[in-house]
Amino acid sequence: MNHLLTPQQLQARQQELRQQYEAVSARKLNLDLTRGKPSTEQLNLSDELDGILAGNYKCADGSDARNYGGIMGIPEARKLAADYLQTIPARIMVGGNSSLQLMYQLVTSALSQGVRGGESAWSKEAAAANGKVKFLCPSPGYDRHFAICEFLGIEMIPVAMNAQGPDMDKIEALVKADPLIKGIWCVPKYANPDGVVYSHAVVARMALLGKIAGANFRIFWDNAYAEHHLVDNPPELANIIALSEAADTLDNVLVIGSTSKITHAGAGISFIATSEANLAAFADQLNIATIGPDKINQLRHVHFLKDMPTLRVLMQRHRAILQPKFEALLSALDKGLSGKTLNGKALGSWTRPQGGYFVLFDTQPGLADTVVKLTAAAGVKLTPAGSTWPLRKDPANSNIRLAPSFPSLKEIEAAMEVFVLCVELATVERELGQ
Ligand SMILES: Cc1ncc(COP(=O)(O)O)c(C=O)c1O
Repeated sequence: MNHLLTPQQLQARQQELRQQYEAVSARKLNLDLTRGKPSTEQLNLSDELDGILAGNYKCADGSDARNYGGIMGIPEARKLAADYLQTIPARIMVGGNSSLQLMYQLVTSALSQGVRGGESAWSKEAAAANGKVKFLCPSPGYDRHFAICEFLGIEMIPVAMNAQGPDMDKIEALVKADPLIKGIWCVPKYANPDGVVYSHAVVARMALLGKIAGANFRIFWDNAYAEHHLVDNPPELANIIALSEAADTLDNVLVIGSTSKITHAGAGISFIATSEANLAAFADQLNIATIGPDKINQLRHVHFLKDMPTLRVLMQRHRAILQPKFEALLSALDKGLSGKTLNGKALGSWTRPQGGYFVLFDTQPGLADTVVKLTAAAGVKLTPAGSTWPLRKDPANSNIRLAPSFPSLKEIEAAMEVFVLCVELATVERELGQ
């Protein structure tokens, strides 16, 4: 389609697209590009976990993994997580099957019990100031981070993302002005959903936020995709732990990760890296809820993943499965939409991530919800429009998160054919005022 179509040409194109849409709808597809789940083929890569201990439950410190205790995690899992998150084992706690749950627990305990006893509870400070606890939310971002805030009544302040990471001028100004801003959500590498890797300058400025923020401010540094590359020379993420240690702000930083997209999703192990004082305070609170994590699974993971070189070989095998899927998705967008304009404006734009699990597509402003509805009615499920923003309010109504990891190549191709068609159809019909 070229620019400056006459109304008649536009009408003709709309009829053509509608016919194609009806034909596709008649195929009664049932395809899903919603969640970034690993595919069965990826999960198969870690099946060796099952039975790997072969009856040997002894941990490095001589303890029995089958028994209670060990709230900080077993020593060998702390060592592996320390190498993964680039710090020392003393700054690591290894938890259960979900980093999201750890984040939820960290937020709830800071909110109601405090990070250093009841006096430091965020909610107490907010009540005394007659205000609300707030979090900065670089957006687009991860819907489940925002859901934690929404559920707990924490006010969310969206902050724009750019190619280097979140807008740091804005973030610094906001935290300086409001001591009730108690946290920020960051996915610093291959961000969910826009694939951005924070630049060194952004990470360095993040590490200094603790100096200008109100008391007990915490950066939730969700490094969920640290080793999840799709390219040969992956970009490097600066080490926020080292930078904040140098700036004496490590108390303000909670680095989080998990093996969910390394081994078995939802059946892996999770970790936090932060100051030893933070870990001790959090362990005291966690100990009320549990007598310890699943140490058998931690041990299984250490036996299987062994060390960073072994883990990286596994991640290459994931990449071999994932990369063709990303290529299929991107090639459908390139073929279907690249260079296409309507009356001078591109039909959409999209990211080319170097790692992670998502491609972010932007429709022309105001069309994301229409495109998602059209594709759904034609049998292709997409993440609901708006879900990449706090309270599901995408101000431009343009973001659509595409997740190609779970479906097969054939399914991605079929789904993208529908998607491309729906983007053009929605844009043309809006131009026609329909
Ligand atoms: C940024 C991010 N953090 C955390 C998670 C969930 O991790 P876990 O399975 O360890 O709870 C996801 C899953 O999609 C994610 O994208």
